[in-house]
Amino acid sequence: MTSGTNIEGTGGPADQRLGTNENEMTLTNRQGHPIADNQNVRTVGSRGPVTLENYHLLEKISHFDREKVPERVVHARGAGAHGYFEAYGKVGDEPIAKYTRAKLFQEAGKRTPVFVRFSTVIHGRHSPETLRDPRGFAVKFYTEDGNWDLVGNNLKIFFIRDPLKFPDMIHAFRPDPVSEISNPERMFDFVSNSPEATHMITFVFSPWGIPANYREMQGSGVNTYKWVNAEGQAVLIKYHWEPKLGIRNLTQKEAEAIQAKNYSHATQDLYEAIERGDYPEWELYVQMMSDDEHPELDYDPLDPTKLWDREQFPFLPVGKMVLNKNPENYFAEVEQAAFGTGVLVDGLDFSDDKLLQGRTFSYSDTQRYRVGTNYLQLPINAPKKRVATNQRDGQMTYFVDRAPGQSPHVNYEPSSLGGLQEVTRRGKEHQPAYNAKLVRQRIERANDFKQAGETYRKFEPWERDELISNLVDALKVCNPQIQQKMIEHFTLADPEYGSRVAEGLAKAKADPSHMGSDTARTSMELAEELGQRTD
Ligand code: HEM
Repeated sequence: MTSGTNIEGTGGPADQRLGTNENEMTLTNRQGHPIADNQNVRTVGSRGPVTLENYHLLEKISHFDREKVPERVVHARGAGAHGYFEAYGKVGDEPIAKYTRAKLFQEAGKRTPVFVRFSTVIHGRHSPETLRDPRGFAVKFYTEDGNWDLVGNNLKIFFIRDPLKFPDMIHAFRPDPVSEISNPERMFDFVSNSPEATHMITFVFSPWGIPANYREMQGSGVNTYKWVNAEGQAVLIKYHWEPKLGIRNLTQKEAEAIQAKNYSHATQDLYEAIERGDYPEWELYVQMMSDDEHPELDYDPLDPTKLWDREQFPFLPVGKMVLNKNPENYFAEVEQAAFGTGVLVDGLDFSDDKLLQGRTFSYSDTQRYRVGTNYLQLPINAPKKRVATNQRDGQMTYFVDRAPGQSPHVNYEPSSLGGLQEVTRRGKEHQPAYNAKLVRQRIERANDFKQAGETYRKFEPWERDELISNLVDALKVCNPQIQQKMIEHFTLADPEYGSRVAEGLAKAKADPSHMGSDTARTSMELAEELGQRTD
């Protein structure tokens, strides 16, 4: 056996000398060294120990060791696709410029590229796509004015209205932190103490909590936004995506049958439809209100637990979206995609919806941690227009986003030495006025139950039957105090709704065979079991 460092085929420095038959298909390492042996590590004799200068081995393994980034703290499971948005140039029958100066909407037929990511919310990156959960519907518009992200869900409302409650809500919906076992008691413990969630729970436990797939589901911005015109005047806006294929939801049984065989049915459905040229399409509608408090309504227009009445605030079409291209690499595009509610273009604005304002901090904060400081330099996140900032360096800086004429020495502003300059504002700034005390306070028109009752009554009979059966199934493992509170909330929504849940629970209690074979147990049972284990 000879010793030495530059033996060909080891993946060491000698590999640089290889390449007599090198062509475009030649395997290399990340340093561009051609690899002659990708099967055998370098050892002292065929049975001897592995040596440490195996550069190719060390690089290959250590890159593999870092292949995963933290998954999204919520919405970890998702699928994405590229496409375009086509504007109608008007809102309903009116010229859209009357309400917003956002360029992407102005011209009929104008196309803006988009990337969309659909998701489930609570469970991890490889969890089944059949779970009862809202579905995420996040759209990145690569507009000529920079990116606009519309980060929505399939359902039109949300569980809570105050961002301070979001981490608690997600903890309650997740498995037990001790046993890692999912238990509806945790969810209903939180929900029974958060009456504003009654409306959303009514949707989530009905078939609307399990959309059949991503192509046959709606999307909604949920939060209230603003549009701003050239005069700086604003209107309140809600966004809604309506699928061309119509809406299809699953019963619990149908979902279970799919889940028994396939954890990825929705991703597969989307991917295969796009591959065969059957491009999914949605129409974008807005609902509009004047920008004021609307004391005539029995709800607050800034409350994301409420629907805006469609008769009073009709759905006005503004454009359509077509998804026509699958990602080429799931990780680079879908996993590293970063959407945020702060990502707005000129002519679009925030409202004072508290939940929206809380969200706006959270997205870019988590993305700097999840993807990295320079996540906006990645192709999926970078705008498709020129970017010129004075932000520099940080981990994984890929390029300096300098303007062609900018002095490389001037990375600050203001400057007279060839630095970047501010632009003249295109229209008047929207300047909302405030005169109020700084407080911690619930909104006045909470009205937590009325719309939940209306939604219950609007469901078709089979949807109501499913809702009651799903609720009873989840609540039967909860402690009686939680059950009682939930029955009260459902009764306040609609007396029939409350009594049907109560009857279902009484039946389940009288006949233990109704308790099913759930692994879920009450916290008392769980505590007893854990106690026995540690005793
Ligand atoms: C994802 C926070 C409410 C829709 C996320 C992520 C965070 C977050 C931290 C992970 C982002 C990432 O890693 O890239 C919050 C907070 C909320 C809130 C703090 C309330 C205070 C909502 C609401 C909606 C929503 C009301 C629906 C309108 C989404 C969607 C995603 C997401 C669709 C996934 C985006 C993607 O596909 O990458 N949220 N969220 N969130 N959130 Fe929220």
